[in-house]
Amino acid sequence: MDLHVSLVGRRDLAGEIYRQLRSAILEGRLRGGQRLPPSRDMALRLAVSRTTVAVAYDRLISEGFATSRIGSGTFVSRHVTTPGARRRGHGTALRPRAVWTPVSAPQREWEKVAFDFRTGIPDARLFPYEAWRGLMARQLRPLAVGTGSYGDPAGHPGLRDAIARHVGTARGVHADPDDVVVTNGTQQGVDLVARVLLGPGDRVAVEDPGYPLPRRLFAAMGLRIAGIPVDSEGLVVEAIPGDVKLVYVTPSHQFPLGISMTLRRRLALLAWAGRHNAAILEDDYDSEFRFGGRPIEPIQMLDTSDRVIYVGSFSKTLLPTLRLGFVVVPPSIRDAVHTAKLLTDWHTPWPEQAALAAFIDTGLFARHVRRMRTVYLARHDLIARTLKRSFAPSLRLVPSSIGLHLSAIAAKASPAEIAEIVRRASASGVECQPLAMFAVSDSPRAGIVLGYGAIDTARIDEGLDRLRRCFGD
Ligand SMILES: Cc1ncc(COP(=O)(O)O)c(C=O)c1O
Repeated sequence: MDLHVSLVGRRDLAGEIYRQLRSAILEGRLRGGQRLPPSRDMALRLAVSRTTVAVAYDRLISEGFATSRIGSGTFVSRHVTTPGARRRGHGTALRPRAVWTPVSAPQREWEKVAFDFRTGIPDARLFPYEAWRGLMARQLRPLAVGTGSYGDPAGHPGLRDAIARHVGTARGVHADPDDVVVTNGTQQGVDLVARVLLGPGDRVAVEDPGYPLPRRLFAAMGLRIAGIPVDSEGLVVEAIPGDVKLVYVTPSHQFPLGISMTLRRRLALLAWAGRHNAAILEDDYDSEFRFGGRPIEPIQMLDTSDRVIYVGSFSKTLLPTLRLGFVVVPPSIRDAVHTAKLLTDWHTPWPEQAALAAFIDTGLFARHVRRMRTVYLARHDLIARTLKRSFAPSLRLVPSSIGLHLSAIAAKASPAEIAEIVRRASASGVECQPLAMFAVSDSPRAGIVLGYGAIDTARIDEGLDRLRRCFGD
């Protein structure tokens, strides 16, 4: 039996051996009836005297945790533990609050999928590894690392500057470098903003259907959720309840439907927020990949009253595992967001931030985005063509010319029938997502969401062919 007892830095050695063995017995790591190591072996292993071990064993025996049988050794008492009863994973002493019921991560990249149409995954095979490695290596030299002290919670100054320029030129977002806070992805941006602006019981509006993770986070914070329908113009502004304090939206490319919110609606949302003194959290997660049509102005750009917080991510343009994103915040909440970031995790890893600053400054980022846009455009067009040609009349494509996924609404099939089709597709190696999984209300729309970040262009035809056969019509 290889029983771990640690005496590093301890004084009362016999007491320590006693306490650690007692814990092992109570937690079920030592089972009733199990023999403790002979005191001589234990003493040798721990480099203590045999008497020290004997004192510990005697105490366990006198308190009933162990029994001694002359000539055969010391044994864990049978009545103290029931096998496995208190082992890790079985205890019930601590219970999470109900709001933390498990949510499965939307992507499980580690699984190998033959035809991967899941959303939210960029093509990791085409990431510029060599360039990124070089930039990271440079950040891990003494001169770059500096004194080893902490960085600014708001982020690396060079990166905040690069992001302000990037969103300013690419998206027309009004951003001074001081307005930018570097975060660990969109999700942390949402978290920080919600912490700063909202308290338990406050109401937030989310799109229905919508991106589930912010919604789950809001619910976990004790916020009340209002699911707002989305029509062909985007979020239905008139349906937002009057007591909502924050509206989370994806106007450039509604997730998951793919609709771009019309200018009329974006202005109506701003006017609504003004009337109700509410905040707008604008998630512009994949707008770098626009394949045509007029780019729509971010709501942040149209805002003149500083009530829009713009959230961006490098999860689609680079890799989701880098956990790099940002928020552009109005000056009135800037200090509070910096404080929230500091108190949450101090700051986003510095070498990655510095590497990304250099990646943007040297033009590598723009080049990578251009290259990926061409790749994704080919996949987008191929899927859109095939859906129109081979899936009609079962599925109706939602027009969209941006991002990493397409949605299609079922003409006749119910959500339950679509779920069955998705299950059959999965059995034949095709992973895609039913629209219903993004629903907030109990009456979801029936449809399918097809991502093309992960799937090789050459595999799309075969993947869609297999999917079509699952429709059985
Ligand atoms: C709507 C939306 N926003 C943001 C993200 C990216 O989140 P993060 O930056 O936390 O990786 C995703 C990823 O799937 C998304 O679908």
